[in-house]
Amino acid sequence: MVDVPEFFSTTLTSSLIAFAIVIVIGYVFLFWERSGIPPGPPFWPVVGNLFDMRGKYTGRRHAYLEEMKVKYGPVFRIYLGKQLTVFLNDQESIKEAIVDQKDVFIARPTKKLWGYKTAALDGPGLAFANGEDWEAARSLVVQTFHDIGSTSFEEIIKDEIMDIVKGLSISCGDAVRIRDTLIKATTSIIGRVSFGSRLDYSKEIDMHIFNTVHALFKGEGSLSPIHTLPFLRFLPNIGEKLEDQNEDVAKTRQEFRRYLDEHKKKSTEHASRDLIDVFLKKSRTIENYLIDEHNLTRIIVDLFAAGSVANGNVVDWAFLYMILQPNIQKKCQDEIDKVVGSKRMVSWSDKPNLPYLEATLMEAYRLGNNAPLSVPHMNTKDAYVKGYLIPKESIVIPNVLSCHLDQKTWNDPLTFRPERFLDESGNIKSNPAFMPYMIGPRYCVGETLSRMQIFLIFTNILQIFVLSKEVGVKLTTEGTCAINMETPPYLVHAKRR
Ligand code: HEM
Ligand SMILES: *[C@@H]1O[C@H](CO)[C@@H](O)[C@H](O)[C@H]1NC(C)=O
Repeated sequence: MVDVPEFFSTTLTSSLIAFAIVIVIGYVFLFWERSGIPPGPPFWPVVGNLFDMRGKYTGRRHAYLEEMKVKYGPVFRIYLGKQLTVFLNDQESIKEAIVDQKDVFIARPTKKLWGYKTAALDGPGLAFANGEDWEAARSLVVQTFHDIGSTSFEEIIKDEIMDIVKGLSISCGDAVRIRDTLIKATTSIIGRVSFGSRLDYSKEIDMHIFNTVHALFKGEGSLSPIHTLPFLRFLPNIGEKLEDQNEDVAKTRQEFRRYLDEHKKKSTEHASRDLIDVFLKKSRTIENYLIDEHNLTRIIVDLFAAGSVANGNVVDWAFLYMILQPNIQKKCQDEIDKVVGSKRMVSWSDKPNLPYLEATLMEAYRLGNNAPLSVPHMNTKDAYVKGYLIPKESIVIPNVLSCHLDQKTWNDPLTFRPERFLDESGNIKSNPAFMPYMIGPRYCVGETLSRMQIFLIFTNILQIFVLSKEVGVKLTTEGTCAINMETPPYLVHAKRR
C-alpha cells in the first residue's frame, strides 16, 4: 500500500508551500516601505536598527551615524523598533526641514517615545511639550530671562566664578578635575534663575538636585531602546533604574514646590527676580492661565536638565583644548591682557573686543558638540527633504555633530583652529553650518544666558590662571556620545599667572 505516504507527502508539500507563502508575505509586509523615503541600512523585525548602535558603537553612536552618512548620503533612515527615524546630517537638509518647513517640523515626538510620554502625564514641561502647552511654557521662560535682564545675569554668573576661582586657588597647582566644579557652578545658576537662590552643596537636598540632573544626562536619550520597546522595563535592572530616577525627580519637584510656597508668602509687589516670581505674576493677571503649580515644577526640572550640565560641559571642552594647545591659550590671555588688563574682571560688554577668544570658544562648541543630536523633532504631515518623502509622524533627528565636522564645509574639520572663524582683519566670521544651539522655532531657549556664562567663566579663569596638563600624560579628545558629548576625564594644573 502506497496510499498513506503519498497522501502524507502531498499534504507535506502543500503545507510547506503554504508555510513558504506565509513567510514571504510576512517578510514583505515587515520590510515593506513606502516608496520615496530616504535610504538606510537593512533592519531587523521588531527591534529595527536599535542594536546596531551597541557593541563597538557604545558611547560612539556618532561614528555609526557617520558610516551611514557615507553609505546612504546626508538624509538617511533607520528604524527604532518599528518607528521610522530620519537623520538630517548636513546644514542644507536641517535648514530645509526645521526652518523652511517650520510649522510641520516644530513638534517633538513625545507620544512616540515611551519614557517621555509617561513623564509628560505628570506635566509636559518645556523641552518635550507640544502645541499650546509648549507655547505657554516657552513664553514663561522667555519672559523670565527678559525680566531678570542681562545686568543681573552677569552678576549671578560672576558670583559663581568667584567660587570657581576660590576652588582653583585652594588646589595650589595640584592636578584637579575641573569638570565637577564647573557643572556645580552652572547648575547653581539655574537655581538662581528658577527660584532665586544659589545651590548650597553642603546641603543634602541641593546635592540631590545636582546628582539627579547629572544622572539624567548619562542616559541615551531618545535613542534608548526602552522608548520604542517599552516592555524592556520589565527586565529587573532597567525597571528599577527608571523607578529610582522617577523618585529622584519627584523629590526635586517637592523642593521646587517648597520654594514656590515661600515665594507666595512674600509680598506680591516685588520685582521679577526669578521664574517663580514671573509665574506668580502671570497666574494673577492672565485669565485661565494654562500653567498650574504642578506644571511649573516640571518646567523647572527641564531648565535644570537642559541648562546645567550643558554649560559646564562646553567650558570643560574649551579647557581641554587649551591644555592641549598652550599656544592658543597664550593668545587668548594676550588678548585679555591687552583689552581688559588684570585690574578688573572680564565683562560681557568686552566680548566685541575679544574676537580671538570668541573664535576659540566657537571652535570648542564646534568640536565639543555638546548637543550632538540636538533634541528630536517630529513632522506633523508628510513632507519632503532633499526630494525624499518623510512620512507624517516620523522621528526627525538633526545631526548637528555631523554638520560641525562635515568635510565639505570645513577643511581639516578635526583640527582645533580658531582662525577658521576669523576674517583677514581679525573679525568674527561665522558659518551657516555652525549651529550649536540649533536653528528654527525650537532653537535653544537658553542660548543667550548660556553664551554669557560660557564666555564669562572661560575668560575670567584664563585671566587669572594658566592651565596645563600633567606632564607625560597622553590625553584624548574622544568624548562619550550620550544626550550630550561628554568630555573624556582629564586633570588640569591651575597656576596663578
Ligand atoms: C542656560 C543654559 C541652557 C538652557 C536654560 C537651555 C534650555 C533649553 C531648553 C528648555 C530647550 C528646549 C527648547 C524648546 O523645545 O522649545 C533647549 C533646546 C536646545 N538646547 Fe539648550 N539650554 C541651555 C544650554 C544649552 C547649551 C550649552 C547648548 C549647546 C551648546 C544647548 C543646545 C540646545 C539645542 C541644540 C536644543 C534643541 C533645539 C532644537 O531641537 O531645535 N543648550 N535648551
Ligand atoms: C499641566 O499638566 C497637566 C497634567 O498634569 C497637563 O494636562 C497640562 O497639559 C499641563 N499644562 C501645561 C501648560 O504644561
